[in-house]
Amino acid sequence: MDKTIDKAIEVLKKSNHTTAFTGAGISVESGIPPFRGPEGLWSKYDPQVLDIDYFHNHPSESWKVIKEIFYDFFAGAAPNPAHKALAVMEKNGLLSAIITQNIDNLHQKAGSKKVIEYHGNSQKLICPHCQKQFTPDETDLNNLPPLCPDDRNVLKPDFVFFGEPIPGTAHLLSSEESQNAEVFLLIGTTGEVMPAAMIPGFAKDNGATIIEINPDESHYTNQITDIFLKGKAGEILSELLRKLLTD
Ligand code: APR
Repeated sequence: MDKTIDKAIEVLKKSNHTTAFTGAGISVESGIPPFRGPEGLWSKYDPQVLDIDYFHNHPSESWKVIKEIFYDFFAGAAPNPAHKALAVMEKNGLLSAIITQNIDNLHQKAGSKKVIEYHGNSQKLICPHCQKQFTPDETDLNNLPPLCPDDRNVLKPDFVFFGEPIPGTAHLLSSEESQNAEVFLLIGTTGEVMPAAMIPGFAKDNGATIIEINPDESHYTNQITDIFLKGKAGEILSELLRKLLTD
């Protein structure tokens, strides 16, 4: 492992443009479970609550689960050493941007500035009718489903549901960012959900070195990964950062 870490450090030091692509795994050490795997959210909840058609047809049922997962549970989560290490890397000119699939807002809470949110953010609710936006605090989540105070339509979390398109700007910025990357850090994602799963391929096709951090192999590991750092994001990124700043 030491040699592999050293190889990653060498590549990161030479890079003029490093991009991070993060998935649910980076927030596991903040107490947020991933989606897949034995302890994953989808082993406890039915993913259809996040299907856009189901949401429109059964807003109360969807909202009950959405509130439990994304508002009661996420609300107490704080950035962990992995989020913080990426923020410090950016501050020191060692990271250009983060493309995240996560909607938990933890990169921003850690202090990262350039964060492209591929799947939106849970900290905004939107009225699909008048497009007005609200924070969770401005909304009464004790009476579900929450309604727009102006036109009484059901509010929707401003993140991407299954069956919804990716916001055009997020896809465009992510594509550009990954195509410009010399080094691409792939952190805590299985690569199972399209179209997000395509983004690392854009970096690879443009010659980026792919460094993957994950305790387990993912769909990417034997396909596009050049350097596999096996382990938890918090531990590996803290070590990378320490070596980048001191060696
Ligand atoms: N550090 C790094 N990676 C970890 C850690 C950890 N401490 N713990 C688990 N992982 C890894 C797992 O091994 C797995 O590869 O994180 C990954 C989590 O994978 P998923 O649960 O599939 O999450 P993700 O890839 O982000 O899912 C993509 O699926 O349901 C949708 O929209 C949702 O954005 C999400 C998308």
